[in-house]
Amino acid sequence: MIRLPLLLLCLAPPGQALAAGDEQAGKAVYAQCAACHSMDPEQSALGPHLKGVVGRKAGAVEGYVYSPPMRRSEVTWTPEIIDAFLVDPQAVVPGTKMPFSGLPTPKDREDLIAYLAAP
Ligand code: HEC
Repeated sequence: MIRLPLLLLCLAPPGQALAAGDEQAGKAVYAQCAACHSMDPEQSALGPHLKGVVGRKAGAVEGYVYSPPMRRSEVTWTPEIIDAFLVDPQAVVPGTKMPFSGLPTPKDREDLIAYLAAP
């Protein structure tokens, strides 16, 4: 039974690793998103607002005009899926109109996702 803790560790939701990011550092990384995204739920810009995006269904911001592929996608924005989307948006939602894939450093994405997930 000595293996049980290890097993439980493996079963833990992978999101926990990402949630370990540094929220403050993430805020600085978010500056790269801010040209197109607001964190104010009343304000969508070129992109939809990102307040509460972690755990939200894709294409769900009321009043924002998404691309058809994003609107139709079945994606829910878990930390893992956001992470993959930021590396290569087209791989996660083929045909998305988000023209950005500029975060090659895993730590930047981890910190950013911690910031996005903060209440
Ligand atoms: C140059 C503008 C631009 C930049 C920079 C940008 N995005 Fe986007 N983003 C968009 C657009 C436009 C969409 C809508 C895509 C669609 O409808 O296909 C989008 C959609 C998204 C979505 C899906 C939201 C939803 O409601 O389904 C997420 C998540 C997202 N962006 C995260 C980010 C993050 C995090 C960054 C910063 C690292 C970022 N984006 C940088 C333009 C941008």
